Amino acid sequence: MAIIPVELAGRSYDVHVGHGLLDNALVKARKFVEPFSGRKVPVVADRKAMDHHGERLAQSLAVDGYAIEWFVVEPGETAKSWAGLEKLVDWLLALGITRSDHVFALGGGVVGDLTGFACAIVKRGCGFVQLPTTLLAQVDSSVGGKTAINTAAGKNLVGAFHQPSLVLADLDTLATLPPRELRAGYAEVLKYGVLGDAEFFDWLDDRGGAVLALGDEALEQAVATSVAAKARIVAEDERETTGTRALLNLGHTFGHALEAETGFSDRLLHGEGVALGMVLAARYSARRGNLSDDSAARITRAIDAAGLPAEISALGLDCDGQALVAHMLHDKKMESGGTLPFILLHDIGSAYLAKDVDLADVATFLDGQLQAH
Ligand code: GLY
Repeated sequence: MAIIPVELAGRSYDVHVGHGLLDNALVKARKFVEPFSGRKVPVVADRKAMDHHGERLAQSLAVDGYAIEWFVVEPGETAKSWAGLEKLVDWLLALGITRSDHVFALGGGVVGDLTGFACAIVKRGCGFVQLPTTLLAQVDSSVGGKTAINTAAGKNLVGAFHQPSLVLADLDTLATLPPRELRAGYAEVLKYGVLGDAEFFDWLDDRGGAVLALGDEALEQAVATSVAAKARIVAEDERETTGTRALLNLGHTFGHALEAETGFSDRLLHGEGVALGMVLAARYSARRGNLSDDSAARITRAIDAAGLPAEISALGLDCDGQALVAHMLHDKKMESGGTLPFILLHDIGSAYLAKDVDLADVATFLDGQLQAH
């Protein structure tokens, strides 16, 4: 097992990565469970996560006579809304939640983001513990304190920075994850190599197959290395003000446009959008003369080898580059001066924030990418 500290003055916490963590949840989280009156532990859970792992969590807490109060969230993004937030906050208030209590979030990014935001605002803030059950949530969304809901204007536009008190990333939970979702989460693992750690990228070239096959040692190393990378970045730039945390958005501007064009549907999962977005960011960096064509091709090969989509021409989109740029302009990362920042690459392991990107040139580039390769 690995324990990775996220160092934030006054709000530091640990991320545990390993097997069997849910079976030992009480041992790990006792101090966060104890204050809640009546030996009841509020757990917000995705229905699938509750079905698969709820019993294990309940048994680990039952050792000391604690019982779970479940708040079940249906799979999908619907609950991450004003209505879903209202329901959850009302439920927490009815339970008599206080500021010294902790709520547990069992599931993927939707449950973590919704629970974290509810905990940021209920009674002006209570604690929460993340129990992420998807690879994407384990390596990205459960760490770093970004919480949010979606609104009519777009995704994640209303939220708060609210750090969890503990994250238990139990690798056993990944065994029940559909392979496509596992691969989508793996895109975020690859992202850490591409944006800041060439050695990790090389290691994934060699061991990526073992990670995706859930090989114990490789999986733990991949998740722990990813979490450590995220922890370093968050510690340096918690609120995304210096440009360092923005590097985590590698692949997200292009990816967001593709997700929007496919209606944020099962046609393209978020991680798949990020994978394609990384290919596009790499190729666009090469077009600007910043990255070698060989390195762009290596990134594309790594994504393809993981069974992730690597060519937007294969998506069968009925749009042009200008339409994709229009989606980008609706993205929340648009800056007040009207510029759209892109995360581009100097090299594998060396990403940078570019604020001088000409959107007409991006549209022309995308027109080319939309044609069959
Ligand atoms: N998922 C990007 C971030 O946490 O900043």
